[in-house]
Amino acid sequence: MATSIVRQLKSSMTVILPVLLVIYGVINSISCAQSKPMAIASAHPLATHAGLAILDAGGNAFDAAITVASVLSVVEPQGSGLGGGGFFLLHRADDNVDVMIDAREKAPLAAYQRMFQNEQGEVIKGASTQGPLSAGVPGLPAGLVYLSEHYGRLPLSVTLQPAINLAEKGFRVSPRFRRLLQFRIRQMTVNNALQTIFQDQGQIPAAGFLLRQKDLARTLRLLSTFGWAGFYQGEVASLLVNGVQAGGGIWTQADLDAYHVVERKPVVGRYRGVKIISAAPPSSGGIVLLEVLNILSGYPLEIMTSDLRKHLIIEAMRRAYRDRAVYLGDPDFVQIPVEQLLSIDYAAGLRVSIQFDQALPSVFLNGPLAGQAGGEDTTHFSIMDHDGNRVAATLSINFPFGSGFVAPGTGVVLNNEMDDFVSRIGAVNGYGLTGGEANSIGAGKRMLSSMTPTFVEDEQRIVALGTPGGSRIISMLVVAILELTQGADVQAMVDAPRFHHQYLPDQVQYEPGALTLAEIKALQLRGHRLEETSKHYGDMQAVSWQKDKQVMTAASDSRGEGLALVK
Ligand code: DON
Repeated sequence: MATSIVRQLKSSMTVILPVLLVIYGVINSISCAQSKPMAIASAHPLATHAGLAILDAGGNAFDAAITVASVLSVVEPQGSGLGGGGFFLLHRADDNVDVMIDAREKAPLAAYQRMFQNEQGEVIKGASTQGPLSAGVPGLPAGLVYLSEHYGRLPLSVTLQPAINLAEKGFRVSPRFRRLLQFRIRQMTVNNALQTIFQDQGQIPAAGFLLRQKDLARTLRLLSTFGWAGFYQGEVASLLVNGVQAGGGIWTQADLDAYHVVERKPVVGRYRGVKIISAAPPSSGGIVLLEVLNILSGYPLEIMTSDLRKHLIIEAMRRAYRDRAVYLGDPDFVQIPVEQLLSIDYAAGLRVSIQFDQALPSVFLNGPLAGQAGGEDTTHFSIMDHDGNRVAATLSINFPFGSGFVAPGTGVVLNNEMDDFVSRIGAVNGYGLTGGEANSIGAGKRMLSSMTPTFVEDEQRIVALGTPGGSRIISMLVVAILELTQGADVQAMVDAPRFHHQYLPDQVQYEPGALTLAEIKALQLRGHRLEETSKHYGDMQAVSWQKDKQVMTAASDSRGEGLALVK
């Protein structure tokens, strides 16, 4: 009932809104001088500008999130989009509520535990990463509609308009877009729709090429007109189901009918007096992040040598990622001992097994045995508005250009998020992650994620942050929060050199230049295997409100092509 009133109000807004916006603009420009500033950091300048325009037009942070997410689905189709999903961490200032909108993809109803294994029980190479069988049922469209109906002020016809315009009129492709499209070159020969949309006369388009996406514009328009039903039912739904089935996938209309987002309570913890609010299962992000920080809270890190400090951080990561593999999955399907995993006593127990002078081989930890991580596909943005509302959202279609599959007529690149499940107990996925029963494939189940949209708060400031990067997302958040608590500003936090351990494979991955020669030697002496990554990874986006100084700052990772703006 309330929702339908909201919907009616919003549809009448479509008519009167242009007038209101002009009036609002006048009032707003007067009140701006006194009110708090606002900020957006996102992975693409067009998304940041579009989001700020919506804030300027009287939208709140949640409206801006709809705009930024939908624009990214057009201008950064390699990273996220309507064919994928993700998590929106929200803070609503009115009632001081923190909530996570879980718009994670779900396995279709015909999915089953061994669907990616052959008769010998071996994992079929590529089955969970290429083509429509690797696609979970998308959650982002439902997430955008939900945000609009329950949290936004403006109708979708306004918040989705910038994305529709960019899909219709086109945007200029970047060198990064070209590089990531190259990754899917083979899939283009299999899927005509993908090729037709993204190639220019049979070639990867040159940087600066104007890429138009007519079908995607139409799908976005149907979503804006009919809401949830514009994507999950009717014309778009039939095109999706028919296209997926013709390509060898198993979706039915019942899968789309059954897709709804879930509101979840974020996980909350403390590190050195700083409150951390982060992603709850089916993301592993918040739990692993807090577990690492809980372990580290027992050490005086700031007075230790840098190699010992890094050794302890690595050992803490090893243990928390082990727990990820053993315990974590979709909370609607599996019992997760969240309280235990987040307890200080449990962390103290894990500390007992950490030695200062020696790495513990991961095989000595109880867990599933097996044994590359992601970088710049997927996307993150952070937003704060005038009123203190904020959003940290990490959205994904998994690999660059997801499954490399577009259902003809939709313009929607489908995810390959099914690869985030465990295809066989102990086997590894595209990020080298292993796992057990808790994250095995099940009909209607959400696959475990590492996406970690997070808020960090203390007396002085509030920071919203997150990044893409597959399994390395969580360790990037660890590094960032440690920097922050040691006094770094947000740009220094975002640009801090990164290193990572994920239990298995048993190695420390580090960015070029992230470790000094002396640190490398000292870590090797302790028995760590080190692996320098071929390039820098991640694309962190953060905004920060300094309460005591009343200063807003925003930072976009210098590794990426994003833009952070404060207004
Ligand atoms: O949900 C997850 O954990 C992954 N699908 C995220 C993928 C990702 O970040 C790829 N990035 N580089």
